[in-house]
Amino acid sequence: MADRLRIAVIGAGRIGAVHARTIRDHDRAELVLVADPDAAAAAELAAALGADSTADADAALTSDAVDAVVVASPTPLHVPHTLTAVAAGKAVLMEKPVALEVAAVDACIEALGENAGRVMVGFNRRFDPSVAEVHARVQAGQVGTVEQVTIVSRDPAPPPSEYLKVSGGIFKDMTIHDLDMARHLIGDIESVHAVGQHLDPEVEDVYDAATLTLTATSGAVAVIVNSRHSVAGYDQRVEVFGSTGTLEVTNQRASSVRLHDASGTEQSGPFLPFFLERYRRAYAAELGSFIEAALSGAPQTPSIADGRAALALAEAADRSARTGTTIDLEVAS
Ligand SMILES: NC(=O)c1ccc[n+]([C@@H]2O[C@H](COP(=O)([O-])OP(=O)(O)OC[C@H]3O[C@@H](n4cnc5c(N)ncnc54)[C@H](O)[C@@H]3O)[C@@H](O)[C@H]2O)c1
Repeated sequence: MADRLRIAVIGAGRIGAVHARTIRDHDRAELVLVADPDAAAAAELAAALGADSTADADAALTSDAVDAVVVASPTPLHVPHTLTAVAAGKAVLMEKPVALEVAAVDACIEALGENAGRVMVGFNRRFDPSVAEVHARVQAGQVGTVEQVTIVSRDPAPPPSEYLKVSGGIFKDMTIHDLDMARHLIGDIESVHAVGQHLDPEVEDVYDAATLTLTATSGAVAVIVNSRHSVAGYDQRVEVFGSTGTLEVTNQRASSVRLHDASGTEQSGPFLPFFLERYRRAYAAELGSFIEAALSGAPQTPSIADGRAALALAEAADRSARTGTTIDLEVAS
C-alpha cells in the first residue's frame, strides 16, 4: 500500500479552495494539480499551495501523476468528471449533490459498475466531530429509541445568482446535507412533506427557505428547517430526542465568552460565519477517511448510493413543495 495519495482538485471555487488547503495540510496527501477553465483562478490557488495548475480538467482527471481527484466543479459536471477519473483508475471524492436528477445518478452507478466503491460523496457533516459523537451515542442507545430529530441549517447569505442557476434549487443544493444527516441518524425515510418559501426577492430561485417533515420506516420523524439568510451567522443545529434522553449539537462561536449586564444576559458573538469555518474539522476528517480508503482499497463511505438516496429525498421534497402533497417513497426491503 502506497503511503501518500497524490491528489488533483477539479474546480478552484469556494469548496475547491477548502479541499486544496486541507489536502496540502494532510500528512498522507500531496496536492499535485488544481484544474479550472478559469486559468487565473487555478493558477492563483495552486501557486499559494505549491501545486501545478491547468485549465484542462480532463488532463488532470486522467494524469499519470495523480492517484485521486476531488471533484469540486459545478454540480452538472460531477458525474462526467467522476466517470472520466474512475475510468482512468483514480479514486474520487465527489462534491454533493451527485447530480441534478436521480436518473443521472442511476446511469452513473451503472457506468461505475464494480468501481462504485472508489467514489465518496462529500457529505462532510457526517465527519463533524460533534455530529459523529451524536451518531455514535445514538447507536450506543444513550437516548433510547429515537423518536424525533430536528435539524436547523441556515446559511448567512445566498450564493451568487450564477451559482444558483446551476444548483438545482434549495432542496438539491442545500437541504441535501440535512437529508443525508436525517438518513444517517434515523435510517430509511418513507415519506416527505415540504413547504417552500420565497422570502428574499433578490434571490433568483423558486425557494430560498424550506421546512420539511420526514417519516422514517422506524417511526421516527425528522424536521428540517432551512434558510438562505441568517443575520446571526451560519446557523447549524441538530437535536436527537429519544425515549430516555436528548442529544444536541449547538451552534459554535469564535469565543465562548458571554456578557450579562443591564441591557441583557447571555449576549455573545455571532455564530461562526460559514461552512469553511464551521466545518473545517469535518472537511479534514472527511479527507482523512477518503485517503485511508483510497490507499487501502476499502469501499468509500458515504457512498454514491448514499448520494442517490439523499437526492431521491430532495426530488421528493421539491415535488411536495410544488404540489402541496406528501410524497411516499419506495424503500428497499
Ligand atoms: N460540501 C460542502 O460543504 C460544499 C460547499 C460548497 C459547495 N459545494 C458543492 O461544490 C460544488 C462547487 O461549489 P462552489 O461553491 O465551490 O462553486 P464555485 O462557483 O465557487 O466554484 C466552481 C468552480 O468550478 C469551476 N469550473 C467550471 N467549469 C469547470 C470545469 N469544466 N472543470 C473544472 N472546473 C470548472 C468554476 O470556474 C469555479 O471556479 C457544487 O456542486 C456545490 O454543491 C459543497
